[in-house]
Amino acid sequence: MTAKIIDGKAIAQEIRADLAKHVAQLTAQGNTPGLTVVLVGDNPASKVYVRSKQRACEEAGINSTVHRLAEETTQEELLDLITQLNADSTVHGILVQLPLPGHLNEEEVINAILPEKDVDGFHPINVGKLQIGAGGFVPCTPAGILELVKRTEVPIAGQNVVVLGRSNIVGKPVATLFLQENATVTICHSRTKDVAAEARRADILIAAVGRPKLVKRDWVKPGAVVIDVGINRVNGKIVGDVDFEEVKEVAGAITPVPGGVGPMTIAMLLKATVEAAARG
Ligand code: GUN
Repeated sequence: MTAKIIDGKAIAQEIRADLAKHVAQLTAQGNTPGLTVVLVGDNPASKVYVRSKQRACEEAGINSTVHRLAEETTQEELLDLITQLNADSTVHGILVQLPLPGHLNEEEVINAILPEKDVDGFHPINVGKLQIGAGGFVPCTPAGILELVKRTEVPIAGQNVVVLGRSNIVGKPVATLFLQENATVTICHSRTKDVAAEARRADILIAAVGRPKLVKRDWVKPGAVVIDVGINRVNGKIVGDVDFEEVKEVAGAITPVPGGVGPMTIAMLLKATVEAAARG
């Protein structure tokens, strides 16, 4: 069997086209959605992500501003900027690109963002709302993964979902989202006894650990849906957490890297920004 390739790029493009229409309506009402991204320092991967986010905003008609701050920016300077952005009614979404340089306190910075502008869904208020299913902003990558799986039209309720990785940005929130969809969810991590055996039980396997080609053919149940969240640079090439060439021979459906989850993350960020503007 050869897996269906889930085309995240095409699905994200559809979502962005729909969003552009909504943005046009809001703009006609004098309420153009605005996203402000804060980038501190020179992390090369962060610079690439921020540029992609900015380009996608422009394409959809969303106002996008990027504050590029020097590596040596102080905590106080960064918090002052967040305070200004919180008070600016043209800024509907605030995103501080992570990771921050080591001398800065990420948690304090995230806590300073108004929850209603926290389009990343990282503020503890939004994290808590996600846990209890109370709305609020959901982290963009997990939201994109759920959307991708829904659009592959596989059932979720009652299925075994196995998540590899327990980060606050992907692993934990994606597990919560699939639990809310009535899946039976297992989270694996570096101390899990037999990760391959857990992975083989998955109807939907989500790999978000940041280890190139970790997931091999014999980790995957025939016909399973495999979602690869990894973005690993190996010899100048981007590879996922899944050994795509091997796993596509056994999976029912699989996301490529690049062109799978990545474009969905950006589409969900735009969606959150438009929602923030629409809420007023
Ligand atoms: N760094 C890697 N992924 C993300 C993300 O989704 N949001 C932010 N702010 N930083 C990131």
